[in-house]
Amino acid sequence: MLAELYAMQEAAQRELGAIESPEALEAWRQAYLGKKGALTTLLRGIGALPAEERPEAGRVANEVKQALETTYAEREEALRQAAAARDLSASAIDVRLPGRAPALGHLHISTQTLREIYAIFARMGFDVLTSPEVEDDVTNFQLLNIPPDHPARDMWSTFYLTRPGLLLRTHTSPGQVHAMRKFPPEPFRVILPGKCYRYEQVTTRSEEQFHQVEGMAVGRNITMADLKGVLAHFAREMFGAERDVRFRPSYFPFTEPSAEVDISCSLCGGKGCQLCKYSGWIEILGCGMVHPVVLRNGGYDPDEYSGFAFGMGPERMCMRKHSITDIRLFFGNDLRFLQQFS
Ligand code: PHE
Repeated sequence: MLAELYAMQEAAQRELGAIESPEALEAWRQAYLGKKGALTTLLRGIGALPAEERPEAGRVANEVKQALETTYAEREEALRQAAAARDLSASAIDVRLPGRAPALGHLHISTQTLREIYAIFARMGFDVLTSPEVEDDVTNFQLLNIPPDHPARDMWSTFYLTRPGLLLRTHTSPGQVHAMRKFPPEPFRVILPGKCYRYEQVTTRSEEQFHQVEGMAVGRNITMADLKGVLAHFAREMFGAERDVRFRPSYFPFTEPSAEVDISCSLCGGKGCQLCKYSGWIEILGCGMVHPVVLRNGGYDPDEYSGFAFGMGPERMCMRKHSITDIRLFFGNDLRFLQQFS
């Protein structure tokens, strides 16, 4: 009996040492300590022993039972800890891994170009003013010397709003009137940047929405020489000191005389190519001396005051600068295009 008890204890403990799963552990417990287990069966056999062997067998059986229960508890705890350690290492954070960088945006190329323009004019003492994108016919046209039915209206295909008399501004020139009405009778110089809208056929060369930067200076002795000086300086700052700049006579109802400014072509250097349509020159803006009628509409007496004004399209300029061939890219929201200017 004693030998059987010791042999069972040895076998049980050996098996227990090899157990790795909770299921195997439970099976072991049933097999040795359960109601029908090996130990219980041996204990039942004690009653059948001769009386003088019973106390000793009972004592040993109890020791074996205690030993098995203790090693069982130890094994159970070891398995629990191993499982916990496995869980922990599976979900561990590797603090040495580099972090995931958030995707950072950057300024839109139109905004970058606008800021470049602001900076150049700021150095020449121009303030920045803005005026509304929704205008009335009076300010967008009539106060700029373009009466209803004037053929010059053909220059600006217009989005009219359902409310009569309202429209989306076709250029930033109505800002001239807003600026003059803000400052009289003081001299001033401002640039007026913003979005403009035209009811255009959308092509690689023209869009329904675009920016303009208007500029205006009003004072007592402003002449066309000031206009030339400011714009030639601007063109060289923007496009490079090596560029030639020319003023070509033109027509706008709100300036007299009027001109357009060309720079020598960046691609061929003036020899003539497809970009400059074999002229050697590229147009960058319209300008002129503020028409007396417009000065008066702004509250300035044209006998005392004079001024110049100009208007340019930053998207067009940016196209010249970076050899971009399709203006639709600016509002197409294609990141492959936009990210080239980060
Ligand atoms: N407003 C004109 C245009 O949109 C440009 C311009 C502005 C011309 C100021 C002369 C003076 O074409």
